[in-house]
Amino acid sequence: MKRDVIIACDFSNKETTLQFLDQFTGRKPFVKIGMELFYAEGPDMVREIKARGHQIFLDLKLHDIPNTVYKAMKNVAALGVDITNVHALGGIEMMKAAQKAVDEVNPATKLIAVTQLTSTSEENMHNELGIMMPINESIKQLARNTKAAGLAGVVCSPLEAGLVKEACGDEFLTVTPGIRFADDAASDQKRITTPAKAKEIGSSYIVVGRSITGASDPVAAYERCMKEFAED
Ligand code: C5P
Repeated sequence: MKRDVIIACDFSNKETTLQFLDQFTGRKPFVKIGMELFYAEGPDMVREIKARGHQIFLDLKLHDIPNTVYKAMKNVAALGVDITNVHALGGIEMMKAAQKAVDEVNPATKLIAVTQLTSTSEENMHNELGIMMPINESIKQLARNTKAAGLAGVVCSPLEAGLVKEACGDEFLTVTPGIRFADDAASDQKRITTPAKAKEIGSSYIVVGRSITGASDPVAAYERCMKEFAED
């Protein structure tokens, strides 16, 4: 599997997103489209970015009863996106239903699952969610469930990529946000690391937002990420 950098295009509208991508002359970075942009602009924008030659991770984190997720995922897979996701906390039956939809509509789409959100602390998990095990055990269990349901991998913190690979094997994808250059501010992210360290720990893909989108030279920041993370 070739490691790659996915740029989180957390922009509020299509114009800003396309202007941002236009800077990458001759390069077609892998992009992540999340809920904000998708709910504002809808599936047409996904088709447009795909038609421009970008690979897309559509980060909609579906979580509902299996039948609803199955039907929704059929529509997501029909967009021809390269990666999309559900919440592992929706359970194995729900994840199987999502994978069935992908297999029926576009088996090339890689389906992954969010384990514990990187914004969830162990304390929240115990006191609010009532999940009493250590957070790393919960992440491993959710990753194993994801594998048992037949999905391709998980979204997790780069710091957890190693333990997920240990639990589920090297081929199991780890897609990891929470990336900062050594000289960046952490902002609101907590369990973070650098592109170079993420490579060392075993991330398959890193998802990088503000370290690229907020840089004075986003193309140079992207190239720096590719150099640190994707080159052998
Ligand atoms: O700007 P930054 O690099 O922090 O952006 C990270 C991206 O990854 C954002 O789009 C954020 O929503 C997403 N993400 C995350 N943690 C997760 C899942 C998604 O930071 N567990």
